[in-house]
Amino acid sequence: MEGGAKERGATIRGDRLWRSLMELAEVGAIANGGVCRLALSDEDRQGRDLFVRWCREAGCSVAIDAVGNVFARRRGRSDSLPPIVTGSHLDTQPNGGRFDGAYGVMAGLEVVRALNDAGIRTEAPIEVVAWTNEEGTRFAPSMMGSMAFAGLLPIGTVLGSRDAQGCVFGDELERIGYRGEGLGERRFGAYFEAHIEQGPVLEETGHAIGVVTGGQGQRWYDVVLTGQAAHAGSTPMDRRRDALLGAAQVIEAVNRIGTGYPPGGVATVGHLSVSPGSRNVIPGEVSMSIEIRHPDDRKLLGMDAAIREAVAAVAGRVPLQARLDMVLDQPATPFDDACIGAVREAARAESLRYLEMISGAAHDAIAIARVAPAAMIFVPCAGGISHNEAESAAPQDLADGCRVLLRAMLACAGGPE
Ligand code: GLV
Ligand code: MN
Ligand code: MN
Repeated sequence: MEGGAKERGATIRGDRLWRSLMELAEVGAIANGGVCRLALSDEDRQGRDLFVRWCREAGCSVAIDAVGNVFARRRGRSDSLPPIVTGSHLDTQPNGGRFDGAYGVMAGLEVVRALNDAGIRTEAPIEVVAWTNEEGTRFAPSMMGSMAFAGLLPIGTVLGSRDAQGCVFGDELERIGYRGEGLGERRFGAYFEAHIEQGPVLEETGHAIGVVTGGQGQRWYDVVLTGQAAHAGSTPMDRRRDALLGAAQVIEAVNRIGTGYPPGGVATVGHLSVSPGSRNVIPGEVSMSIEIRHPDDRKLLGMDAAIREAVAAVAGRVPLQARLDMVLDQPATPFDDACIGAVREAARAESLRYLEMISGAAHDAIAIARVAPAAMIFVPCAGGISHNEAESAAPQDLADGCRVLLRAMLACAGGPE
């Protein structure tokens, strides 16, 4: 996996990229080969510290903004030009894999190291960024750092948001030592993000590279169903207001709505909290998440209406009180033609089979595309499995994606004279 095509002298070292990924995966490693590095946890701090150390060792200066986004900068010959930026996120799902997010950040670092090895100074500066809380697991919504950077989330909302234990985002950011200054005033010449596909298409169709042309729209909701907690032995069936029964019907409806919007519609209930949660008490309250996604915004709006209708219908039937709050509204986002072209050309130059595709998953690039020219590079992952400890990707594919990243960045940054 070492060697491979050179871009004007710079050589991506797949072995070094792999070693960095594996060392990073030791931070927050869990039993079955995965990683738990929740946003702003001690593990997140350790992962960030490692990244910052490696960037400084590679000669970069490091800046941190007000929501904890970390920017590592490699100077350009014309250092006042807007930087060509790459990166992704270091936080993970609770039972996450070793590659989701980490790959994009480590691929950026490998680009910097390869340029250093070759003694290449680009015209524009190069930056590698680690965005805060992309996953949205501990603090919702997802893409928090990049959305705040892009002006899509007010800083007060981000800093004031709380996790399930009531811990405040701003306090946690301070605690781990990553509360910096300024937000969103940096201008990017272009932004590229390398990521595992997190779906099965590239592997199944035998393509090495996904040239990502945009991200689908998505909406997230918090739903609270309130009935009445009561004795499970002495409350007759026709007198119950069982919030969990309502939740079960909502889950069924969510699945039906996702299935009813082909091609591309998906709908998921991923989290449920039942109160009081005792086996001989009828559940009085259920809090649940719902998320819907579709590449077509008009279809997404149709799904939104169907979800609201279904929740109201269930509440009327059981009967329950229902509250539904939307916590993320991300429209379908096309990427920049010139950046897409740079990725396509880079894949061609590396003689890699590529496929143009829309991203099913959310990514920081989708937020950044609202304020800067952006595109993404996907590489295959085993069985399309992600958000799972079993997540896996081949060293060769990761190195190929990194070579495409290097070429695309150099095409925008201006290579050696
Ligand atoms: C993040 O990984 C998402 O797609 O929600
Ligand atoms: Mn990710
Ligand atoms: Mn993810």
